Amino acid sequence: MRILSSAFYLSIIFLMLVACEATDSTSVKSPDNNIEVKFLIADEGQAAYIISYKGQLVIDTSYLGFEFTNMPSLGSNLELVRSSKKSFSETWEMPWGEQRLVDNTFNELVVTLKELAEPKRTFSLTFRVFDDGVGFRYSFPEQAGMNEVLIAEENTEFKLTGNHTCWWIPGDWDIYEHLFTKSPFSDIDALSKRNHPNLAQTHIPVNAVNTPVTMKTDDGLYLSFHEAALVDYSGITLKVDAENNSMRSNLVGSDNQKHKVKVQTPFSTPWRTIQIAQRAGDLIESNIIVNLNEPNKLGDVSWIEPTKYVGIWWEMHLGKSTWDYAATQDMSTYIGAKPHGRHGATTENTKRYIDFAAANGIGAVLVEGWNTGWESWIGTDDREGIFDFVTPYPDYDIEEVVRYAKSKDVKIIMHHETSSAVTTYDQQLDTAYAFMHHHGMDMVKTGYVGTIIPKGEYHHGQWMVNHYMRVLQTAAKYKVAVNSHEPIMATGLRRTYPNDVTREGLRGQEFNAWATDGGNPPNHLPTVAFTRMLAGPIDFTPGIFNIKMEPYRNDNQVNTTLAQQLALYVVIYSPLQMAADLPQYYEGHPAFQFIRDVGVDWEQSIVLNGEVGQFVTIARQERDTERWFVGSITNEESRNIIIKTDFLTPNVKYNATIYADGENAHWDLNPTSFKIEQVVIDSNSEIKLSLACGGGAAISIEPVE
Ligand code: NOJ
Ligand code: CA
Repeated sequence: MRILSSAFYLSIIFLMLVACEATDSTSVKSPDNNIEVKFLIADEGQAAYIISYKGQLVIDTSYLGFEFTNMPSLGSNLELVRSSKKSFSETWEMPWGEQRLVDNTFNELVVTLKELAEPKRTFSLTFRVFDDGVGFRYSFPEQAGMNEVLIAEENTEFKLTGNHTCWWIPGDWDIYEHLFTKSPFSDIDALSKRNHPNLAQTHIPVNAVNTPVTMKTDDGLYLSFHEAALVDYSGITLKVDAENNSMRSNLVGSDNQKHKVKVQTPFSTPWRTIQIAQRAGDLIESNIIVNLNEPNKLGDVSWIEPTKYVGIWWEMHLGKSTWDYAATQDMSTYIGAKPHGRHGATTENTKRYIDFAAANGIGAVLVEGWNTGWESWIGTDDREGIFDFVTPYPDYDIEEVVRYAKSKDVKIIMHHETSSAVTTYDQQLDTAYAFMHHHGMDMVKTGYVGTIIPKGEYHHGQWMVNHYMRVLQTAAKYKVAVNSHEPIMATGLRRTYPNDVTREGLRGQEFNAWATDGGNPPNHLPTVAFTRMLAGPIDFTPGIFNIKMEPYRNDNQVNTTLAQQLALYVVIYSPLQMAADLPQYYEGHPAFQFIRDVGVDWEQSIVLNGEVGQFVTIARQERDTERWFVGSITNEESRNIIIKTDFLTPNVKYNATIYADGENAHWDLNPTSFKIEQVVIDSNSEIKLSLACGGGAAISIEPVE
């Protein structure tokens, strides 16, 4: 009896151990133990997960699964087949970037699941838990009855634990060029953002948000949701379910197919990412998105050179000159058509920009409107075959331009406006990139204005994701770096394809020139820094000194001070950084010295302070020098900021040149008032900055000789 009962107790203890271990084997913590992900099989056999931070729930029980058009949906009646865990740590080097060395340390949990009943499909979920967030993805092995997979929807849920404050743009399938709205989660109303008058294409089918979407909880924790390694799949939007305080993936689809994604097993989805931070600035410092991508596949990429550039660009947005050459809209009569005399991309004008670049240490000149077709490119469905990317206008002597640029050690940046006639571009890819190669050009700005042809496809759907990838790979073949406008959002692929250098994917500076809604308000960039910028580099095109744009655009203006325009070179990261204004506004201007000096490639970056939508200060150390640059920007509120310079090397004296808002500076009333101060500082110094309403400050710091 006694023996029996102790055996009984022993077996209970044994069972408890097993149960305990089962729980343990399906949960995983971050290396610093703060974040915990628990995987579970819910009552009806659904796959689900929970995330906590320092013991507090951050994501409540959230379900996972799929709907297909060629098989039954997947997500319930599942059993756990096995689970495994591992720890991983490496340091990898960015060939160019916000920092040189990147720490990639995480703990990983892989759970393999199988349906209990026919068709007994199997898949696995991989959770990677970093100190600053979580990434997870689904993987499907090859298996009987599951060869081609037509995904109607991915049902990945993020169940929030409160009605968080959100900074969001609508889940537009065709463009990210929306202003961010700050609202409680329950007030998100993406449909109210439909039909924006300044968007050449927009499609907002449901109440969803695009990613990255950033949130702040009542407890002061910051969360940001996005995706990493988007390859051969559709971009994600997150559908808002205000009643249940939950978001669910809503993949970008196509009007031409019932499914949203078509794949073959074996395949993995992109990573679904959740950044978790106690400080808003930590969101910016996080490397989760790049870490969840594969290492460099291109090998030696020393030919990719971060640079500043000027361009024949802003003058068209101001209406001073035009992209097109002839005074006709009719392609059939284009040949022999008379020039209207306002064409921007002439040989002479390009040479003026080359001279300006060469005189100011600026590495490159972008030339838009150099190729035929601009007379009739927009607003029509008949766009195929209009641009060919190899035929210059009669007044643009490309051989001479390239020769002249080379003699001045300046590069020409190619421009490919596809007008979203994507099939035309696909057919031209090799020819277009061989043409660039022939002319020694190693950078291209691409553009996708307008609805996608073929009709029914969207900029962020799988069809286009695959197109953008083909462009990247073709460009890599010809050693060309790509800056894409109207792109697919960055998901960290620059780690794998370092020629994926920068992109638009937000409301850029151009909106200040012509938007009919007043341009980008002063809170735009302090919001962008904590939302869009988490995805990757931004070609925002800063540096407008003629803030009021007179005499060109008397009804428009930039809604920042001039000092803030300088600060953006540090705050808004891009390895290609434009000095966007007309050279005439830089010539002789003392503030232009900052643009001449500022770095474009960084050893390290530190976010000194910031609050989403309010202000942010970033310090970056230039690679291979001891120079530091600091940028600080604020929204419509003025504020005093104190910067501790303890990031500097101890016991070294530095000259700091501070470009600050002047007396009474104000983004609207007095935007160009600024002052320059010089001080000697060291690692124990404090710099006090007074940022004007819509203002900023830029500091260049170098060791005293
Ligand atoms: C939109 C791009 O964002 C802009 O930079 C470019 O000038 C125009 N398209 C024309 O291609
Ligand atoms: Ca654009």
